Amino acid sequence: MAVSIAFDYTNLTDVKGGIGEAELHDLRPRLEEAVDGFLQDPLGFMHLPRTTELSEPSKALAEEVRASGATDFIHVGIGGSALGPIALHHALSHPYYNLLEDRSGTPRLHFAENTDPATLSAILDVADLHSPWVNVVPKSGSTAETMANFLVIRGALVEALGKDGYGERVVFTTDPEEGYLNQIAAREGTKTLPIPPDIGGRFSVLTPVGLFPAAVTGLDIDALLRGAARCADEVEEGGLDHPTIQGAAYHYLMDTTKGRNVRVMMPYADSLERLAAWFVQLWAESLGKKGKGSTPHGAVGTTDQHSQVQLYMEGPQDKVIKIVEVEEHPRDLLIPTAYEDIKGVGYLGGHTMAGLLNVECDATRKALTEAGRPNCTIRLGRVDEEHLGYLFQALEVQTAIAGSLYEVNAFDQPGVEAGKQITYSRMGRPGY
Ligand code: PA5
Repeated sequence: MAVSIAFDYTNLTDVKGGIGEAELHDLRPRLEEAVDGFLQDPLGFMHLPRTTELSEPSKALAEEVRASGATDFIHVGIGGSALGPIALHHALSHPYYNLLEDRSGTPRLHFAENTDPATLSAILDVADLHSPWVNVVPKSGSTAETMANFLVIRGALVEALGKDGYGERVVFTTDPEEGYLNQIAAREGTKTLPIPPDIGGRFSVLTPVGLFPAAVTGLDIDALLRGAARCADEVEEGGLDHPTIQGAAYHYLMDTTKGRNVRVMMPYADSLERLAAWFVQLWAESLGKKGKGSTPHGAVGTTDQHSQVQLYMEGPQDKVIKIVEVEEHPRDLLIPTAYEDIKGVGYLGGHTMAGLLNVECDATRKALTEAGRPNCTIRLGRVDEEHLGYLFQALEVQTAIAGSLYEVNAFDQPGVEAGKQITYSRMGRPGY
């Protein structure tokens, strides 16, 4: 089935105080320069979907995991090494995946991210350590949180499977050359999957970081890459006029000329709540530099209509609401007719839950627009692998182009180094 995805920026221009033609026109030369630079020397993540170099080994190892009859798969990673796979899992797997009795032979999936001992203990409580697989995912091979989680899990595995047995069930997904995990892999013969050196954490969802756990849980990673490749092709063909690139210009102008420095990503689908969390990291860590950038925030409709929309409607004029609307929801339910004589309840009967969700999405968009609150919409035909692949790629391109407009390096994160150094020194790492 074809990908249907539309980016609608009407309510960024037509809304009171919106962006005018002149502002877009004035920015055009800079946008042109940014896009030309990007297309002449495309970044690593642009090439990813066009090769099977990373998907084939991910699929092969996922097959091994499933064939082993593993009950549990623990993904150990943080930041860009976790948020993409989590977003994928939440979007495409059953919301109660781990509780399903029939998972078609796929293991339960756990994410060990933070160093909160309560969470890790809980994972160790529920996972059967006699038949697990553990995927350790630090691109750098040295992140303290990931290595600490790994060391604790390793200790538990050694206890359950013995010193000689545990290594069979461990995978290191890491930079193929850099980092301490390569030393350990060489010493212990651990299986590895590569994260290409030129692809940073938050741009890595379509490397084995996201592909391997997705394949383990039975998602169609070929379709994911197909969607992303389609986006890459369309960006190359459309250049400056591709809607995701236009989006970079709109969001940049909203921040720098209208003082709207908060971006709220608000999908109207529970399945996309963690996509918003992935986007928050992508936008924040890529653009928040040199005193520049806009603050991303995640919300979900309709739930947050009852917690945050009051602020979006009448609070400070500092936000752009980025609605993600889903045309065709994967499941629907008819609301039964009942209490027809009670006006405030009876009207719901005969509608569907998806219908109500989408009417509320449209109603919120209209209300925001009428109140002079800029908003834009990404309209997805469906939530499936192909659409998500397209969307991941499109938002990565948008972030990279926004980085050029802001004149910041979207691919580093110097601001997190200081805290790391202090942690290393307090924890007694040699040399710090
Ligand atoms: O986007 C990034 O580069 C970061 O958020 C990293 O993903 C995060 O710091 C984890 O790094 P690593 O994968 O090296 O453990």
